[in-house]
Amino acid sequence: MNLHSLFRRKKISDIEAEQAESSSLHKILGVRDLTFLGVAAIIGAGIFSTIGRAAYEGGPSVSLLFIFVATACIFTALCYAQFASMISISGSAYTYTYASLGEIFAWIIGWALLLEYAVSNMVVAIAWSEYFTTFLAGFGIHWPAWLEIDYSSAREAYEQIQAGDFGDYVPESVSKAAHTYNTAPELGGIKILFDLPAGLITLLITFIVYIGIKESKNLSNWLVILKLGVIILVIIAGAFFVKPENWSPFMPNGIGGVMGGVAAVFFAFIGFDSISTTAEEAKNPQKDLPKAMIYCLIICTLLYVILSLILTGMVNYKELRVDDPLAYVFGKVGMNFIAGIISISAVISITSTLLVYQIGQPRIWMSMSRDGLLGKRFSKINTKYKTPGFSTILTGIIVGIPAMFLDMQFVVDLTSVGTFFAFILVCSGTLYLDQKGETKKAKFKIPYINGQFIIGISFLAGLYFLLFQTNYQKIIQEKPLVLIFWMVWLGLSITALKYKFSLLPSMGILFNLYLMTELGWSNWYMFIIWLVIGLTIYFLYGYRKSKLNNKV
Ligand code: ALA
Repeated sequence: MNLHSLFRRKKISDIEAEQAESSSLHKILGVRDLTFLGVAAIIGAGIFSTIGRAAYEGGPSVSLLFIFVATACIFTALCYAQFASMISISGSAYTYTYASLGEIFAWIIGWALLLEYAVSNMVVAIAWSEYFTTFLAGFGIHWPAWLEIDYSSAREAYEQIQAGDFGDYVPESVSKAAHTYNTAPELGGIKILFDLPAGLITLLITFIVYIGIKESKNLSNWLVILKLGVIILVIIAGAFFVKPENWSPFMPNGIGGVMGGVAAVFFAFIGFDSISTTAEEAKNPQKDLPKAMIYCLIICTLLYVILSLILTGMVNYKELRVDDPLAYVFGKVGMNFIAGIISISAVISITSTLLVYQIGQPRIWMSMSRDGLLGKRFSKINTKYKTPGFSTILTGIIVGIPAMFLDMQFVVDLTSVGTFFAFILVCSGTLYLDQKGETKKAKFKIPYINGQFIIGISFLAGLYFLLFQTNYQKIIQEKPLVLIFWMVWLGLSITALKYKFSLLPSMGILFNLYLMTELGWSNWYMFIIWLVIGLTIYFLYGYRKSKLNNKV
C-alpha cells in the first residue's frame, strides 16, 4: 500500500463532469426556499425534545450555550458555503473532503455522516414517540408504558430513586420511569421494555421513502410554517406563565452544568449543512447558499434562545428532565389544550425531520458507492420506484431497531461527537484549499482576515487567563481532553505564523474542537471505536475498490 494513495484527491473538474452526466435537476430554489429548507432540517427533535435535558443540566443559562454553539456553527457554515460555491453539486461534506483533504478523510467524513444522519434519526424517532404518546394521552388513549421506554433509561431511573439521588425532589418523569421498570412484564427474569412507536414510525417512513414519495416543495414550506408557528406559540403563550423567580439562580450547576448540555444543544443546530446538498437545484447556489445558511442559523438561534428562557421561566429547571418539554410545561401550568396543540404539531414536525434525514442517508451512500468506496448495491436504483432501494431499506433497519432499545442521551452524544468531527474536517479542508490557492475561483469567498498573529496572540491571552484566572489544575483533572484543544490551538498559532491562515475557518476549528472536548471521554471513546471500525472497512474494501485506485 502506498501512503500517498490514501490522500488521492478527486479533481473538482471530474466531479462536475460526472455530475453533469447524471444530473438533470431543475434549478428552482431561491434564497427563501433554501432558508426554509435549512429551517426544516434544523428544527426537529433538538428543540422539541433534547433541550429539556440540557435545561435540566444547565438551568436557565442554557440560553447562553445556544449562542456559543451557534457561533461555532456560523464559522462552519461559512466554510460549507465556500465549498458549495466551488463545488456546486450535492455530495456535501463528503465530496468537499474528497476534493480537498483526500480519500481517506472523505471516507472518514462519510462514515461520520452516518452519525449525523442515521444515528441522529434514532433520536428523532425516540422524540417522535414521546410526543405521539403524549398526544394519544390527550385523547384518553394510554399507550402501555413498558412499550414506550428503553430498558436502560427505565432501569437508571429506578436505581437513582433507590439510591436517593434526588433527595426530596424527584422529577415526575423519573418516578414514572422507575414505576414502569418496577411493573414491566418479564420474560425469563428479564424486564421487557422497548420503544415500539419509535420503531413503527421508522418503518413507516422507510416505506414512504422506498416507494419514492418526495416531500414537494410546497408541503415542506407548509411544514416549516407549522414548525415555526408552534415555537412562536410556545413563546407567546408561555410568556404569560413566566415567573422570573424561576430564572434565579441563572446558572444553578455552574459552567460545568451548562456545558453538560453541549451535545443536546448542538444537536438542535445540526442540519444547516444539509442545504448544501441541494446545490444542484438552486438557482444561484454560489450566492444564495451562503446567505441561506447564515439566515437559517440566525432565525433558529433567536428562537432557541428565547424559547429556552421561556421554558426555564415557566417551571423550575429541575422539572425539565423530560423528552417532550414543550408540551410538558403547558400541562404543568394547567393549559392542557395548548399542550395538545403542541403535541400534534410536534408529531407532524418531527415526522418531517425524520423524512429529511431518512432520504439523506441513502444518498450519501449512493455517492460513496459511485466512487467505489462502497459496494455497487448501495447505488443501485430500484427500477420500479426509482429510489436507491437497498440503501433505503438498510437505513430503515439501522435506524429503526436501535431506536427501540437505546437511551436517547447515548444517541445524542454519539451524533454530536461525530458531527463536530465532520465540521472540524470541513473547516480544515477550507484552510488546506486556501493554501493550495484553489479557493480563488470560489464565487463566495469567506472574508479573509489574516490570522497570522491573531491566533497566536489570542492563544497567549487564553493561556494567561487559564493559568492565572482559573483553577486550571482542577479543570485539567476533570476534563483532560481540553489539553487536546490547547495543543491544537498552539499548533495552529505556530503554523499560522508561516501560512497566514484565514481567521474565520481557524476559529471554526477551535470552537468546534473546544465543544467536542466538552463531550467527555466516554463519547470520544465511542467515537474512536466507531472510527476504527470505519477505517477497517475502508482498508478491507474501499481502498482497493476505489475508482481512483483503479485509475492510477
Ligand atoms: N437538528 C435536528 C433536530 O433537532 C437534527 O432534530
